[in-house]
Amino acid sequence: MSSTSDMGDFQTVAISSLTQQQAHQELARLADILNRASAAYHRDDAPIMSDADFDALRRRNAQIEQRFPELVRQDSPEASIGAAPAAGFGKIRHVRRMLSLANAFSTEDVEDFVTGIRRFLGLDAAAPLAFTAEPKIDGLSLSLRYEKGALVYAATRGDGETGEDVTANARTLQDIPARLPDCPEILEIRGEVYMTHDDFAALNARQRETGNKVFANPRNAAAGSLRQLDAEITRARPLRFFAYSWGETSQALADTQISAIERLAQLGFCTNPQTRLCQSVAEMVTVYAAIEAQRASLGYDIDGVVYKLNDLALQDRLGLRSTTPRWAIAHKFPAERAWTRLEAIEIQVGRTGALSPVARLVPVTVGGVVVSNATLHNEDYIMGRDSRGQPLRDGRDIRVGDWVEVYRAGDVIPKIRDVDLSRRADTAPAYVFPDTCPECGSPAIREPGDSVRRCTGGMICPAQAVERLKHFVSRAAFDIEGLGAKQVESFWRDGWIATPKDIFTLKDRFGPGQPRQLKNREGWGDKSAANLFNAIDEKRVIPLSRFIFSLGIRHVGEATASMLAGHYGSWDALRAALQDAQDPESAAYLDLLSIDGVGDVLATSLITGVVAEAVEIDALAGLLTITPPEARASDSPVAGKTLVFTGTLEKMTRAEAKARAEGLGAKVAGSVSAKTDLLIAGPGAGSKAKKAADLGVQVVDEDGWLAMIGAL
Ligand code: IVH
Repeated sequence: MSSTSDMGDFQTVAISSLTQQQAHQELARLADILNRASAAYHRDDAPIMSDADFDALRRRNAQIEQRFPELVRQDSPEASIGAAPAAGFGKIRHVRRMLSLANAFSTEDVEDFVTGIRRFLGLDAAAPLAFTAEPKIDGLSLSLRYEKGALVYAATRGDGETGEDVTANARTLQDIPARLPDCPEILEIRGEVYMTHDDFAALNARQRETGNKVFANPRNAAAGSLRQLDAEITRARPLRFFAYSWGETSQALADTQISAIERLAQLGFCTNPQTRLCQSVAEMVTVYAAIEAQRASLGYDIDGVVYKLNDLALQDRLGLRSTTPRWAIAHKFPAERAWTRLEAIEIQVGRTGALSPVARLVPVTVGGVVVSNATLHNEDYIMGRDSRGQPLRDGRDIRVGDWVEVYRAGDVIPKIRDVDLSRRADTAPAYVFPDTCPECGSPAIREPGDSVRRCTGGMICPAQAVERLKHFVSRAAFDIEGLGAKQVESFWRDGWIATPKDIFTLKDRFGPGQPRQLKNREGWGDKSAANLFNAIDEKRVIPLSRFIFSLGIRHVGEATASMLAGHYGSWDALRAALQDAQDPESAAYLDLLSIDGVGDVLATSLITGVVAEAVEIDALAGLLTITPPEARASDSPVAGKTLVFTGTLEKMTRAEAKARAEGLGAKVAGSVSAKTDLLIAGPGAGSKAKKAADLGVQVVDEDGWLAMIGAL
């Protein structure tokens, strides 16, 4: 952010030598610029000056007012700044999580989705299964809670667990009724806020005319318009809403997805007119093709087709994975493409030391977005081979100077798809992938079976150290307001922060009363420094799943982190288990493997990642309060219990039984131990039943289990 050119003028004349007329003029200019800056910061999320400049101008304004009290203006910045709403929105914890969707990219993926559902439910191929198909709107999702028919709050998706309170903004949308006729006492409606192409173009034209921010696409415009601290700005923006789903309801809306959607329409919501009911995969992909053909004429952006299992009782049986339902999938449209020239290949070093080649391109527009960088994945990809050594692009390699085809699907990083050999100069040399780290010079090696070359420098490699810090403060990790990638880099460069734990001692070292203070750093001021220290303090209490994710261990993404949090319940328990699990024969190791989606590769990465950095991680944990996952309200008798299934189940598949149990808050383990609370034994149960009897563990049969969970 550059400082304003007005700054110099303001600072030149000493206050003691200002004439009354000069003071009068200067106060007017200060009021104008400070009030504009304040609005830009608080209301538009788009600051126009640095905090330090803001503080300096404000101080000067206050000093002039003090000397000339008779000149204090009605719109004095002193009066209005303090009254500006606190940055940010209140938080709302969703009663039922807001989910995202798994993706399908081909008919085959859609077939796998349907087959997987049959397998999970134990249905044979002939059993009829119907699905709804509807456009996937490219907007932002919103949850509306109605109680006794009145809108009580509206929340954005956030991280799925907790969203932002945008109630005042949502109330300004015409498509969102304030009251509903004759509906369940509690009813949460979910859907997508979006902007039409025409409204988007008109809004951008207005923004341009008034010298305001122009939005990159309708989705950004919709998000920026909904998330306004001043709801009157939202009111002036043409936002729309399609309802397509629901959260908590005190009474079921219907028995099927399609009739639930009809019910939403009767309640007064807009539902998508393209929605169809399909009886087979063939019908689903036919609807997909039809919707794709209409894509350009719909008047709003869509990026695929969503299929949902029509029978709501079956949806319920299928339940949820950690962030996506098993009963729905998004069939995405193919990516958009364009040809351009590859100017250079640069190597970036990531937090796990991976050397990632990045293509620098002559800028080209792909599906409405200007692209100048794209990923090249890894050295095999550049050479024209896949991870198993099979030819890619018929074995054509990629060289600097080549004409390449770029594509992008949705929001993901653009990729290079193909290369035009007919336009390559005979003299173009093949690309040689470096075998040393470009950042620290350490050898970069490829482990057998790994497609990625990695720097062996560990924490001596500046790139790894910085990338780990950036990951640590990223949105899904500690998400510290005011401490983004840019600030982390600059603190790291100056040796203020070397590892994550240093963030939590920053105030002790550079806070008030210290010889060197953050507020005196370039780009910082009293206000922004105090804000940062507060923002850091706020994150001293952190949910376990975020803490695990923030460690940046290879293969441990958000979903795995939340699964680990759910399984172990506390950092101490996980930490101790990983210590014990170093022995692959140990019960702790087997217990780790019993978690859905945890295999040997992930387990090894997690154990070595935590044990190798134990000193650092323990020191970090010592500065924090790590909170256990909040149990979702479950009054089930199996909540918090450890269960083991053995023998044959006759009423549901093993996968369904496990998912059901987990959905009710139980843990499902693979083997019986002293920690087991309940063994569910079907016919043919063998050694596990015997062991359970020896250990005095409660044993029930399948009907006993179904009765226990109220499913009989
Ligand atoms: S259903 C459990 N239906 O896509 C159901 N989502 O990638 C969850 N979206 O977060 C969503 N159009 O914001 C559903 N017709 C549609 C949708 C839709 C757009 C968004 C939604 C969701 C995201 C998942």
